[in-house]
Amino acid sequence: MNHSAAEADRDVAVGLRGASIGYGDVPVVSGVDLVVRSGEAVAVLGSNGSGKTTLARGLLGLATVLDGEVGVLGAPVGRLRERGRVGYVPQRHTVSGAVPATVREVVGVGRLARLGLFRRLGAADRAAVAEAVAAVGLTDRIDDPVASLSGGQQRRVLVARALAAEPELLIMDEPTAGVDAASQEALAEVLARVSAAGTTLAVVTHELGPLAGVLHRAVVVDHGRISYDGPLAGGASLADPGGHHHPGEPAGPRPGYRLDHPRVTGGDRAPEGRR
Ligand SMILES: Nc1ncnc2c1ncn2[C@@H]1O[C@H](COP(=O)(O)OP(=O)(O)OP(=O)(O)O)[C@@H](O)[C@H]1O
Ligand SMILES: [Mg+2]
Repeated sequence: MNHSAAEADRDVAVGLRGASIGYGDVPVVSGVDLVVRSGEAVAVLGSNGSGKTTLARGLLGLATVLDGEVGVLGAPVGRLRERGRVGYVPQRHTVSGAVPATVREVVGVGRLARLGLFRRLGAADRAAVAEAVAAVGLTDRIDDPVASLSGGQQRRVLVARALAAEPELLIMDEPTAGVDAASQEALAEVLARVSAAGTTLAVVTHELGPLAGVLHRAVVVDHGRISYDGPLAGGASLADPGGHHHPGEPAGPRPGYRLDHPRVTGGDRAPEGRR
């Protein structure tokens, strides 16, 4: 049997071949062939219920791979030994829980994922936590209970938690949902920085906003199948065919992202150029 691309090629961050992913024995996405190379920055687009979150969860072993192959950072999904190599911002946050935790503690958990169990945070780790909190603009709230933060601020805590681990692959499910414009800009700057440093990004989003300047490739999920995979410019229009826009937002392409001018990010990193 041939080795899968995911296992054979260390340059591949995410490799799916003929993959079906779902819950129980019911596939939600199927027939997915997708290769994301190390260092790429990919937007995952598509309408509600199309399967974006299921696809993302499949990469983390949180949804079931029912068929085909799914490889993440060179290992079949779920077999990756160092979990901290993959960062994840879930779509639906449940930061709170029973134990009151401060922003610093929650973000520190992200750092622990990188260290492994039974290790304590050292000075460098504490600095990384503080830096991640600063990156999402919550330094003044770092010792506050997360439960006392607003919804958008809590999403930013989850982003900081993922950043603090300094993962090789960062999967974010709607990181900007409910997040104000200034914080979206700040997040885009952080992601541009980690992307430039070589981190692979996969960002599920309905609103590209400032992220359009960071993500160069779009994968559109439609009824559980990938209907588009290519430069961001084409993907964004396909993902939003009816010109649908949210109330209170201007129709059409947002600032920093123009369909008629698909510069988006460095063309040298476009997927076609790397094959
Ligand atoms: N835990 C689950 N168990 C069973 N079915 C699920 C589960 N989570 C999602 N689904 C189903 O999978 C389909 C795709 O859901 P998914 O959350 O992947 O969509 P999505 O593209 O992320 O949508 P949205 O844009 O609203 O976040 C939906 O029909 C949903 O009902
Ligand atoms: Mg979703």
